[in-house]
Amino acid sequence: MSIHSDPDASESQLYSDLPAPLHLPPSELLEHYEPNVLAPLVRCSKLPFRHLTSLYETHITHTPMMLAEEFSRAQIARVSDFSTSSEERGVYWMTPSSGSSSKGNGKGKEAVRVNHPDDDCSSHSADELITYYRPPSNTKDRLPPSPTAPNRDSVLVRGNLIAQFASPNAKSLADAAELISPYVDGIDLNCGCPQRWAYNEGIGCALLRKPELVRDMVRGVRQRMGWGWSVSIKIRIDPDQKQTETLIRNALSAGISYLSIHGRTRHQPSTDPVNLEGIKFAVETVKGEVPCTGNGDIWSYEDVVTMREKTGVKGVMAARGLLANPALFCNYPSTPSHAVSQFISLSTSYGLIFPFSTAAIDWLESRGLDWRKDRSTIWDARRGRGVLSTV
Ligand SMILES: Cc1cc2nc3c(=O)[nH]c(=O)nc-3n(C[C@H](O)[C@H](O)[C@H](O)COP(=O)(O)O)c2cc1C
Repeated sequence: MSIHSDPDASESQLYSDLPAPLHLPPSELLEHYEPNVLAPLVRCSKLPFRHLTSLYETHITHTPMMLAEEFSRAQIARVSDFSTSSEERGVYWMTPSSGSSSKGNGKGKEAVRVNHPDDDCSSHSADELITYYRPPSNTKDRLPPSPTAPNRDSVLVRGNLIAQFASPNAKSLADAAELISPYVDGIDLNCGCPQRWAYNEGIGCALLRKPELVRDMVRGVRQRMGWGWSVSIKIRIDPDQKQTETLIRNALSAGISYLSIHGRTRHQPSTDPVNLEGIKFAVETVKGEVPCTGNGDIWSYEDVVTMREKTGVKGVMAARGLLANPALFCNYPSTPSHAVSQFISLSTSYGLIFPFSTAAIDWLESRGLDWRKDRSTIWDARRGRGVLSTV
């Protein structure tokens, strides 16, 4: 009798014969598996929130935008801007998207990892650069949501973590990429931050109309890190489509691994509806040379489906939708209580995100739910199971 049909099998027995998850670079994950993506979010997409969303079928997560110049120059910036853990990436059953010829054999041209801290925990000194959490030595790896594959084509895949930087020059970006490379699966260049201070500094959306500079920055990272390293850009659409076209052609010529497209212009507030036609235009400009991710107004699972159908993107990126409901990609219509509880558990273990974490505690207490009792540690938060107790 298979262990999976034995009603008395323990949880550890059920999970005992899992294959090792594939470690695919983001471009392959996007090309073949249609992943769900957490957008970069200043102040919000920090470690506890990234780990939380990874428990609910968010396969690629982004750090908040960090300033490459500060990050590469100052230890204090590295420590305050970035922390990660060996557990923050999830493990998922994923099925190759239709039309994909690959089941992700892990032998793709980009399957390169540079000096990951877990390769040799005893000898590296990289922890001096950033805060890196490791689980107790007796803890197992992250687990998928279920011990068995949902269908015959499903394979076990590990999620990706991308660091997003803002930079006005190629050297700072390459320096920052090199420093952070042991901890992430790639870097992303912010070409969309619309704030005036950013524009005046020549970063964020100021880059939307500086295609040669974007090209040089991507090239700079490529030259420093090699072709195996993932470098992407996140853009906004331009009211003048020719500008979008020029930007994309330059970025492609420099060798971006994938493209993320926010379907609003620099001057549009987020209250304006996302322009799916604008995203589709950008995807068509790419002509399939690299996979694309679409971003804007993803509030429900239906929005995820519509984004793919109407624009041709492979990945779907949510920002405010995941802040409102971190379990959005698992098709929960609103935030389940266990997500709130998990978030408190994660943020008390990793460090609070103010005022986010305190709001979550207030939310639970207002419903008479006791977050102090039966609280799991982060190292128990491996599959996103509920840990809530009601008083
Ligand atoms: C609080 C907040 C912080 C953000 N921080 C970043 C950032 O660091 N980098 C970035 O590229 N975009 C940032 N954005 C933009 C989002 O990534 C996303 O492009 C935008 O919110 C549109 O997606 P949505 O309609 O799903 O919210 C931020 C948005 C919000 C609401």
